[in-house]
Amino acid sequence: MIDLLDIRYVRLGTRDLVGADRFAREVIGLERVRVEAGAHYYRSDDRDHTLVYFEGDPRDHTVGFELRHPGALQAAAAELSNRGFALRTGNADALEQRRVAALLSFTDLSGNRIDLVERPQHGGRRYFPSRDAGITGFSHVGLCSTNAPRDEAFWCGVLGARVSDRIGDAALLRIDPVHHKVALFPTTRSGIQHVNHQVAGIDDVMRAWYLLRDKGVKIVFGPGRHPTSGAVFLYFEGPDGMVYEYSTGVRSIAPEDEASYRPRQFPAVPSSFCMWGSKPDIPEFRTDA
Ligand SMILES: [Fe+2]
Repeated sequence: MIDLLDIRYVRLGTRDLVGADRFAREVIGLERVRVEAGAHYYRSDDRDHTLVYFEGDPRDHTVGFELRHPGALQAAAAELSNRGFALRTGNADALEQRRVAALLSFTDLSGNRIDLVERPQHGGRRYFPSRDAGITGFSHVGLCSTNAPRDEAFWCGVLGARVSDRIGDAALLRIDPVHHKVALFPTTRSGIQHVNHQVAGIDDVMRAWYLLRDKGVKIVFGPGRHPTSGAVFLYFEGPDGMVYEYSTGVRSIAPEDEASYRPRQFPAVPSSFCMWGSKPDIPEFRTDA
């Protein structure tokens, strides 16, 4: 089993680096840490970077995970290779760009690009936001799944994730005590479905709601509260249609509760996404009910 420590970064292609840069800083509130040829690097916490916009296909998304144990990359490569996955090891340029000591890339069964990394660099200084959005860190991604039960089995059976809850066939997966770091949403495309940053409190969520509306940013869901994780949330649309989320108050499943915890099945109805009654304008969150 491959042991993931945490999600580390997302890399997103865009045809409009200038517009994406403005959005990342002026709307989301991320700190820009580096501008390289054709790529801008941003951070939202202690990590060297947590989000990258690069010049490229807007459908080109990668999510990076740090392995729990240094030296485990070789075993991970063997396990994935045995299961028929084509692997790419990072060359010197790729390692330098990602500020990691080792890198293995593969594409999952739904076509999502995944990086596994070792010894990613710490930022070495405090996160200094571009605006006071209250961000406390980059936390989770929604991933597209073209076959949710198959992908759930892969994430749990190969990558060591555990199901915290399900909404219909959409599994909310944890790799540490946080209720979910990855969520698999049934759809017909591949890529990152949404990117989450945690904020300090409900005041930050509501402040963002007013501020984003004033800036003309499209709000696509919320403010609301997820009955699954308990988090208060706001979803909004960023460059190239990417959905961003601020949330706060996500539930944890303590290590001592791991053995007895059982995932709950929520029906595929709007109230399973928001207990306050907000309706999502996000294709993968829409339900027939
Ligand atoms: Fe989320």
